[in-house]
Amino acid sequence: MNRRDFVVTGSQAGLGLCLAAVLGQGCASAAYFAQATVEANKVSVRKSEFQYVKKGEVKTRDYLLVKPEGAEFPVCLFKKGDGYTACLMRCTHQGCEVEVQGARYVCPCHGSEFATDGALLNGPADQPLKTFKTTQDETSIYIWLT
Ligand code: FES
Repeated sequence: MNRRDFVVTGSQAGLGLCLAAVLGQGCASAAYFAQATVEANKVSVRKSEFQYVKKGEVKTRDYLLVKPEGAEFPVCLFKKGDGYTACLMRCTHQGCEVEVQGARYVCPCHGSEFATDGALLNGPADQPLKTFKTTQDETSIYIWLT
């Protein structure tokens, strides 16, 4: 392999790694958008959406995201014991989209922090995140958008 081939091959390999990083491939902490159905104000998510397989083992996600068609912000559904909490990922300070960092939401714009149930932990926001009632049956979780 001459120098030119080495540079071209190396660049292509680097580009592939960058794309994989951007797309979150191989990263278990990447946010997962679940398949959901919307019927009037009810969003249905199958409980199996929380499951994934890694190295042959079935794992459970801590949370997943749902973005109904036409919605400006996703809703984050956190699993908490046998229950679930659902929060709109819109910061109550100036409307940036919050991110999940561990077991809390953090706003990338000015640093407000919220608990997984939407409670305000640190400002400058002065209101909790908007939350939605959730119910469930054996197979699905329902988020009530009202
Ligand atoms: S918009 Fe979120 S802290 Fe300002």
